Amino acid sequence: MSSPQPIRLGVAGLGRAFTLMIPTWRDDPRIALTAGTDPRAAARQQFESEFGGRAHASLEALCADPEVECIYIATPHQMHADHVRMAAEHGKHVLVEKPMAINLPDCEDMVQACDKAGVHLMVGHSHSYDGPVLQAHRLIRSGRFGAVRMIQAQYHTDFLYRPRRPEELDTTLGGGVVHNQAAHQMDIVRLLGGGEVRSLRAMTGAWDRSRPTEGAYAALLQFANGAFASLLYSGFAHFDSDEWHDWVGEMGRRKSPADYGKARRSLGTPESAAAEAALKADANFGGSRYRSPESGAPFHQHFGHIIVSCDHADLRLTPRGVMVYGDHERWLDEVPVPPVPRQEVVDELWQVLREGLPARHDGRWGLATTEACLALLESARLQTDVALHHQVPAPPPAP
Ligand SMILES: NC(=O)c1ccc[n+]([C@@H]2O[C@H](COP(=O)([O-])OP(=O)(O)OC[C@H]3O[C@@H](n4cnc5c(N)ncnc54)[C@H](O)[C@@H]3O)[C@@H](O)[C@H]2O)c1
Repeated sequence: MSSPQPIRLGVAGLGRAFTLMIPTWRDDPRIALTAGTDPRAAARQQFESEFGGRAHASLEALCADPEVECIYIATPHQMHADHVRMAAEHGKHVLVEKPMAINLPDCEDMVQACDKAGVHLMVGHSHSYDGPVLQAHRLIRSGRFGAVRMIQAQYHTDFLYRPRRPEELDTTLGGGVVHNQAAHQMDIVRLLGGGEVRSLRAMTGAWDRSRPTEGAYAALLQFANGAFASLLYSGFAHFDSDEWHDWVGEMGRRKSPADYGKARRSLGTPESAAAEAALKADANFGGSRYRSPESGAPFHQHFGHIIVSCDHADLRLTPRGVMVYGDHERWLDEVPVPPVPRQEVVDELWQVLREGLPARHDGRWGLATTEACLALLESARLQTDVALHHQVPAPPPAP
C-alpha cells in the first residue's frame, strides 16, 4: 500500500503568525507548503522564492487553486469569519488561527459553513496543543490522581508593547489581550478543567491611554463539574514571568535576562499607527528585517504558569513536561520535545485529514473558547457573573 501523501497546505496571511509557524510547515514531511496569499507583494515574492510554492494575489484565487486541500487562515481576527466561509465554499478544509472570530454569530456561521460544505474546521495554533498540556490532559483522564478541583493560570508579559497593527489596539476589531491572549489561556484551562465552563466573573485593565485596549485581566471560572479556575494575564508587565520557567520563553527557547525592557525600548514612541504597523510587518515574512526561522527548539513552547490541583496531586506544567506533586512523592513526567516546533498541530491535522479521526480542536470547541473569552469582556463591562450556554466537554486526550 502506498503511504499517504503530504497535506497540500495553502496559507492565507503571511504575517507574524505564519512566520512563527514556518518551522512547523517547512520541516514536517507531512506538510507540503503549496500556495499562499497576502496583499503584500514582498511577502508573495518571498513565499515563491523560499518555498517554491505559488503565491496568489487574492484569497479567492488561493481558494480556487485545485492543488490546495487545506487552508491555514492567519489573517487579522476580524477577517476570519469571511475567510473561513470562502475557503469552505471552495471545498477546502480549514485551520483558522485563534481567536476563531470576534463574536459568536460569526463562529456559528463558520461551523455551519464548514458542515454544509462537508469540510473539516480546526482552530489553532493555540498553546493548548503544547506537549505538556496534552500530557497533563492524559494524566488527568487516567483517573490516577482523582478529580480536578482547581486550576491556576498566570502569565506576565510585555505583549502590549510589541509593535501592533491599529486593529490590535482596538477591542471592537478584535484587539487587546482578551481576544488575543485569553484565547490561548482559556483553551488550555478548558481542556484541563473538563471543557464546560458554567459561569465566569472577570475584571479587565486598560491602563495605558497610548495603547487604548485591555492589556490585563483576571477571571474566575466555575466549571459544570464543580472545578474552578483563576486566569490572570498582564501584557503591561515589567516582570517577565518566564523568569519562573528558568528563562525559557513562550517559543521554547532560552531568553536573556539582560534583554530586560527590550520591547518598550524598541517600540519607543511610534510616529504614527501606520509606522508602528510597518515596524511589525518589517520583522515578519517578506519584511526587510525578516530572517528565516531556525528549526527546532530545546524546550516545549508554553503559555506561562499552569497548575492543576487534583485530589491526589498537583500538576505543574513546565517547558520540559509535567511536574507531578503526588501524595508521597514528586517527579517530572518528562515529555520529549518534538523535533519540529508545534508538531502537535500537524499531528492533529494529519489524524483528521489522513486517518479519519475527529478533530479535538474543532469548530464547536473553538466557539466555546470564544464564548468564554467574550464572556470575560462582558463580565468586566457589566461587573457581574456571566453564564455560558455553548460549552462542550473536553475531547478525549490526544493519542
Ligand atoms: N498562535 C500564535 O502563536 C499566533 C501568533 C501571532 C498571531 N496569531 C494570530 O494570527 C492571526 C494574524 O495575526 P498576525 O499577528 O500574524 O498579524 P499580521 O498583521 O502580522 O499578519 C496578518 C497578515 O495577513 C495579511 N492579510 C490582510 N488581509 C488579507 C487578505 N484579505 N488575504 C490574505 N492576507 C491578508 C496581512 O498583509 C498580513 O501579512 C491572528 O488571528 C492572530 O491572533 C497567532
